[in-house]
Amino acid sequence: MRNTRHSSNIISILAALIVLDHVINFRVKSSVVALGAHAICNRVPGLTSRQRDMCRAAPDAMVAVGDGIRLATLECQQQFSNHRWNCSAIGRGNSFGHVVVVGSKEAAFTYAVSSAGVAYAVAAACARGNISSCGCDPRHKTRKELAPAGWKWGGCSVDVGYGMRLARRFLDARELESDARSLMNLHNNKAGRKAVRQSLVTECKCHGVSGSCTMKTCWKTLPPFRVIGDNLMRKYWRARPVVALPSPKGLVLSTRRGRPGLSGTSPKKSDLVFLEQSPNYCERDLSTGSLGTVGRLCNRTSTGTDGCDLLCCGRGYNTHQFTKITQCRCKFHWCCYVKCDTCSERTEQYSCK
Ligand SMILES: *[C@@H]1O[C@H](CO)[C@@H](O)[C@H](O)[C@H]1NC(C)=O
Ligand SMILES: *[C@@H]1O[C@H](CO)[C@@H](O)[C@H](O)[C@H]1NC(C)=O
Ligand SMILES: *[C@@H]1O[C@H](CO)[C@@H](O)[C@H](O)[C@H]1NC(C)=O
Repeated sequence: MRNTRHSSNIISILAALIVLDHVINFRVKSSVVALGAHAICNRVPGLTSRQRDMCRAAPDAMVAVGDGIRLATLECQQQFSNHRWNCSAIGRGNSFGHVVVVGSKEAAFTYAVSSAGVAYAVAAACARGNISSCGCDPRHKTRKELAPAGWKWGGCSVDVGYGMRLARRFLDARELESDARSLMNLHNNKAGRKAVRQSLVTECKCHGVSGSCTMKTCWKTLPPFRVIGDNLMRKYWRARPVVALPSPKGLVLSTRRGRPGLSGTSPKKSDLVFLEQSPNYCERDLSTGSLGTVGRLCNRTSTGTDGCDLLCCGRGYNTHQFTKITQCRCKFHWCCYVKCDTCSERTEQYSCK
């Protein structure tokens, strides 16, 4: 028996955020947000009561939460575009819910990237001055002890702590039960947030006579979200299987290394964890969240996950021939334009049977 609450979890949050986003964008001009926040947040479907309170308290932060979920969705699709499970269902209502029904590595990635996306987008919006209750990280300016000689902290360091706290309060608020799957989700949410903190980079600006750089001002900033996506993808590849074991404090996650009767150890906080093996995602089976790979484009010569052998699960592939029109024999003419011919080229595409 699958826990159906978990299947509706992210769907409703996504639906809610999309609605919220539309409503706010439509109405915005800050004072209206403040006046209308109560009404807007009441109208959004699928929020838990704690999330609704947070929405009322900081409607401008909710816009960033929506941006974060979108960022996460695009990143997930990009990272998995060559995999059997390609994240395509994320954010599209039902099918995404089914994908995360199984407590698999893919579910682990989905939760981690979502909470990373929210922490990231909120921190970025704070630094842009787009959220009234946050801004730059005030603590960085006073960390003299960490700055090497010749430079000091200054400018606007991104307040990643604020982003992480908001992501935790907002997304973790959905895990109302203390069953194994909720523990898994909470763990992966946290690993995702930590990945954002670990990714911060230091940027500096030189001062001094004619750019001599005798003095530098430095601040912490966010890298492109792709860096975080790549990092989470590495964590996906070495995600740890865990089990939930009873303890005096209630259920806790444990790595499976312990022999029967002996408990394993707690998983590392920065690791992604999963409870169940992934389906092979070959055939369409919505009860496990598998859309199947029929019709997927594959690469005939690749031995990776995008190769026809692996992607099509040994079913074989169809070959489609078509003519590609390209610009060719381009010549540069003095001065200044480029003239090209159009060439046609026969090419082939392959798609899974
Ligand atoms: C908020 O963000 C949007 C888009 O990112 C930007 O156009 C706008 O100027 C920002 N508002 C403030 C007050 O910085
Ligand atoms: C992802 O896979 C599904 C199911 O095979 C397919 O319908 C969809 O077009 C794919 N999406 C992308 C972006 O390739
Ligand atoms: C297919 O895979 C090969 C080997 O990995 C690679 O060199 C080639 O660029 C790929 N073709 C496409 C269309 O992606």
